[in-house]
Amino acid sequence: MLEIKNLHARIAEDGTEIIRGLNLTVKAGEVAAIMGPNGSGKSTLSYILAGREDYEVTEGDILYNGESILGMDPAERAASGIFLAFQYPMEIPGVATMEFLKVALNEQRKARGEEPLKISEFIARVKDAAGSLNMDMGMLKRPLNVGFSGGEKKRAEILQMKLLQPKLCVLDETDSGLDIDALKIVAEGVNSLRSSDRAFLVITHYQRLLEHIVPDTVHVLYKGQVIKSGDKSLALELEANGYAGVIGEAA
Ligand SMILES: Nc1ncnc2c1ncn2[C@@H]1O[C@H](COP(=O)(O)OP(=O)(O)OP(=O)(O)O)[C@@H](O)[C@H]1O
Ligand SMILES: [Mg+2]
Repeated sequence: MLEIKNLHARIAEDGTEIIRGLNLTVKAGEVAAIMGPNGSGKSTLSYILAGREDYEVTEGDILYNGESILGMDPAERAASGIFLAFQYPMEIPGVATMEFLKVALNEQRKARGEEPLKISEFIARVKDAAGSLNMDMGMLKRPLNVGFSGGEKKRAEILQMKLLQPKLCVLDETDSGLDIDALKIVAEGVNSLRSSDRAFLVITHYQRLLEHIVPDTVHVLYKGQVIKSGDKSLALELEANGYAGVIGEAA
């Protein structure tokens, strides 16, 4: 589903190279955990997948279902089923969460040649998704993320994911800031979307999340490269020993 080949990318503004020859393949149905020390390029990779314009790809390619996405803008990528849950979700003052969700959903439907959802059907879907995440519908009248607590923002990201039903879901530290119950709720939300035609990239620092969202593969990112891949036992090894050993092996 996703094939990243020898990807090199830099910050457009000043030319600093952040991604330096990254290779990664994720199959449909797979949950791939991405781990790695602070500053290794995990969030940068997620922004590049989403098509953020602050970064320039200088070499290599990103194939999604066999086709390069490098020429696609962020809206086209979203419509094709790529979704990013941000490490730091943006606050959007003046736009009620409900309205934001409706526009996001209907824009994607339009791009795929589908009719907008009937308002009653839309509300039913939001109610269902919010209920499963233990989110209060009252909150959805507030501007998106404005004044939401850290954990509420993360839940709002998962709510978007549940509504949009994307095919490639990139979750950037969705566990950070969640209380114990919210962690379980969010993990259940992710697990309920696991299916043979969908893949997840789950960026996390901690094994804790991976107890709830059990990954098929684990990849360690360091200085813009994947330096080691393994199965879920790799996450346990990292939790026990830290990154020094893995970084030493790769050097
Ligand atoms: N716009 C930018 N300007 C300058 N440096 C940047 C920019 N974007 C990213 N970087 C740098 O690129 C490196 C990778 O950052 P990134 O946010 O991808 O790391 P990360 O692996 O997500 O880290 P963390 O685990 O702390 O979230 C960091 O050294 C960061 O300072
Ligand atoms: Mg990050």
